[in-house]
Amino acid sequence: MNTYLSGIQSSGLLHLGNWFGAMRPHIELQEREGEHFYFIADYHALTTSRDPEALRDNVREAVVAYLAMGLDPERAVFWRQSDVPEVTELSWMLSCVTGMGLFERAHSYKDKIAKGVKPNVGLFTYPALMAADILAFDPTHVPVGADQKQHVEMTQDMAASFNAAFNAEVFRRPEPLIEAQDKLAKVVGTDGQKMSKSYGNTIWIFETGKKLKKAVNTITTDSRPPEEPKEPESVLLFRFLELFLEAEELSEWEERVRQGGADGPGYGHLKVRLIELIEETFRAGRERREELLADPGEIDRLLALGADRARERAVAVRDRALEACGLR
Ligand code: ADP
Ligand code: TRP
Repeated sequence: MNTYLSGIQSSGLLHLGNWFGAMRPHIELQEREGEHFYFIADYHALTTSRDPEALRDNVREAVVAYLAMGLDPERAVFWRQSDVPEVTELSWMLSCVTGMGLFERAHSYKDKIAKGVKPNVGLFTYPALMAADILAFDPTHVPVGADQKQHVEMTQDMAASFNAAFNAEVFRRPEPLIEAQDKLAKVVGTDGQKMSKSYGNTIWIFETGKKLKKAVNTITTDSRPPEEPKEPESVLLFRFLELFLEAEELSEWEERVRQGGADGPGYGHLKVRLIELIEETFRAGRERREELLADPGEIDRLLALGADRARERAVAVRDRALEACGLR
């Protein structure tokens, strides 16, 4: 039987990149036969967060966003990472069989250093916590964005090192499951770079009304007039429209932009259509989000249920690891 597991770091409001690259694939996978485990990686968020209120808000937002958009907490085990302390125990055990070189080669760590981030030890050993998160639940598949593939490969290495060091089959090897379509694996932001909260180029999935209009208006355009024929590849707005539109409507817009002339749509037209699509896609979820936020007791109940179910699995794996290395 396949077991799917993934996590999402709770360090800000969820944007279109998080939705298409992580949350939607997780929610869709629930339809597949097998077991499903999804969690909010709040310990990971602590590598950068220094604001307790903001961290609490971000965790709640991530929890509510998943539930509002269709994660079924009966079908999938859904929990908050810090509710499962066995994960930090496993993280220590895995760190003790991992060479420094493995961590030093992590792209995400190197990228952060290159951007001038002053690293703390938690940022450096982040992959050991992630490996523990994964291995604690014996998953077969880990659906992640392309940027997380290396972390899953490091997890495979750490699992193999531990098993080899203690000559025991403690950890099961997980395989990364990567989105094949480029447009979903790397959603662009309003400035044309990868959408990311660290670049300030995001559109929040539940944004609506004037604020949504304002966000969409920041998508980069140029001064070419509507009549001028253009290649759709040269119009950033199409990178957004193609995330939402059915093939038929998408090719109609592309054709009109290519033709230009009197019927050539201006960027304003494309923006209006994009706003409608974002509003429609997230309307029901936005309403459900409001209902959930008004019922904090229900959120707590679901998190407690998830934590119990998640811990049951993690305790068994932690015990196997303790036994294998002689701590029991
Ligand atoms: P951010 O880059 O905004 O800090 P995170 O690193 O917290 O986002 O990413 C959370 C999840 O969302 C990860 O699984 C990541 O692969 C996915 N993700 C983030 N940005 C994008 C994007 N622009 N396109 C596709 N997936 C993305
Ligand atoms: N590092 C992932 C991210 O930034 C979040 C994450 C933490 C994760 N633990 C995980 C993803 C385990 C998959 C499996 O998005």
